Amino acid sequence: MKLYIDDADTKKIRELMNYLPIDGITTNPTIIARSARPPFEVLREIREIIGHGRDLHVEVLRRDCEGMIEEAHRILRILGDDTYIKIPVTPDGYRAIRALSEEGVRVTATAILSPMQAFLAAKAGASFVAPYVNRIDEMGYDGEGVALSIREMLAVHEYPCEVLAASFKNSMQIQSLCEEGIECVTAPPDVLEALIFNPSTDVSVDRFEQNFRRAYGEDATMLTVPE
Ligand code: E4P
Repeated sequence: MKLYIDDADTKKIRELMNYLPIDGITTNPTIIARSARPPFEVLREIREIIGHGRDLHVEVLRRDCEGMIEEAHRILRILGDDTYIKIPVTPDGYRAIRALSEEGVRVTATAILSPMQAFLAAKAGASFVAPYVNRIDEMGYDGEGVALSIREMLAVHEYPCEVLAASFKNSMQIQSLCEEGIECVTAPPDVLEALIFNPSTDVSVDRFEQNFRRAYGEDATMLTVPE
């Protein structure tokens, strides 16, 4: 399963990438605005941090197909041709997904709330489809179920499109999809941190250290004890 950070806080991105096996960064207009920095300044810095070996997903703002395509070209020129262009699944969005995919642009269809929205985006040529798991849950439906049903449909129809499950608010939402083998997940830093944080782990490590030091001396580690 690929794991993405859904954020544009470059300090946090550097910190998380130090210890988590991160495959890329996803952003959206709200996330960029939250950075309170000029959009291309922050996106360039993210590209610098992750290089071209990891994925960067950037969303367009224009609501009309022609505008989306123009924005996509500008984003690609500034951040590199390998940048994924996020297009929301509106009627104009579907037109833009098809046109950009035909040009060979990598498109991530976003703001997906139902299996058929995803299916049609994949049919139009999207490389990724991003169902918003928590937002679907909040609407009273089953967000994880929708993500899995999309994966099933894409597999049955053999579309070369991956599910990039998004909009997570807790670890269990991610764990359930991980157990089911979902291809990709993007989550904000606090949710990613919570995946590995457990105070009892720290208590165990403290106890190991205390017991070892009591037996072999203050500051003893496997580097200081005799061979
Ligand atoms: C997807 O790529 C979006 O950036 C994001 O996951 C939306 O999540 P939200 O529901 O937390 O805004």
